[in-house]
Amino acid sequence: MTEKDFKLPDYSYDKVEGNVVYKSPSNIALIKYWGKKENQIPANPSISFTLTACATTTSITYKKLKAVTPDFQFDLLFEGLPKPDFKPKIETFFKRVETYLPFLKAYHFKIETSNSFPHSSGIASSASGMSAIALCLLEIERDLNPDMDADYFLKKASFLARLGSGSACRSIEGDLVQWGRHSGTTGSSDLYGIKYPYKVHDVFKNYHDTILLVDKGEKQVSSTVGHDLMHGHPFAKKRFAQAHENLDKLRPILEQGDVKEFIKIVESEALTLHGMMMTSQPYFILMKPNTLEIINRIWAFRSASKSNLCFTLDAGANVHVLYPENEKEEVHQFIKNELVAFCQNQQYICDRIGFGAKRLS
Ligand code: DP6
Repeated sequence: MTEKDFKLPDYSYDKVEGNVVYKSPSNIALIKYWGKKENQIPANPSISFTLTACATTTSITYKKLKAVTPDFQFDLLFEGLPKPDFKPKIETFFKRVETYLPFLKAYHFKIETSNSFPHSSGIASSASGMSAIALCLLEIERDLNPDMDADYFLKKASFLARLGSGSACRSIEGDLVQWGRHSGTTGSSDLYGIKYPYKVHDVFKNYHDTILLVDKGEKQVSSTVGHDLMHGHPFAKKRFAQAHENLDKLRPILEQGDVKEFIKIVESEALTLHGMMMTSQPYFILMKPNTLEIINRIWAFRSASKSNLCFTLDAGANVHVLYPENEKEEVHQFIKNELVAFCQNQQYICDRIGFGAKRLS
């Protein structure tokens, strides 16, 4: 599909008012998206586990205006309170998607949103937040075009979410989602995420992700700035090629349930992501001393116990501890005994693989 397929032929705005609610999860990348081109096109393909516990619930109440207006008309409530500092982000998103959702200036929207995780947790909410709002808006378009088919709906939801935040396009479906064109993955696209189309061993069907909250402060460098620093980065070309190679390597690993090889790719991807940050110009470090303490403890525990837990990182100091279902008791014990001490206020979130966003009304 191409961009123009996401523009429906002219339709009328018959519905006067309505309400839609979606709950959309976060996701954690195994192969990382870091670097992008114009219009939120990724510089390399990525793949992620969709999560369950970390999610955003968004309700949009829409009312037809007397006349189409020059600006977008919306109110934004975050956890029940007006949130003026989120408005510019939504405004930018509306501008980016307007050509694909032509009704936007014909309605007033009341957007009410809340997260399942504490706002101060330092967890990126853009994937869950942007996918939830994209789904609500597309559901409104479906209200106006009831014959929209299910496959088109999922692709367009992911396409719109991507325009809000790249990683958000991987939060519409579960349980493994790939985004970005890759010659080894049939149906893959730079425009939207797809459910991973190949066989996945049962061991990877119910993986756990315990998120250790190492640093809950505001990040010094945003993802947007970090992506931008991949332009002219001395190692960018090699890194983008490596993501393709890792995707090829991952295919038999996922199929055969080879957790040992899975660990090698996932941990290397996390450290490469942070390696890119440390070698950008200007360079920066998002890991904290406790991030490294946790990584070292994970490595020591793994070699002493033959456990198959591993870590990954997003663009921050928090550590995602990934492990199979059948190891959950011993890993929980290890986290409590050894890792919790390195978390801010001893906080962590128990999450696991999920199956994508859900409509709540
Ligand atoms: C490190 O999706 O937050 O989490 O497209 O600018 O909104 P924007 O960036 P964003 O970047 C996420 C980067 C990452 C890796 C990943 O999720 O693949």
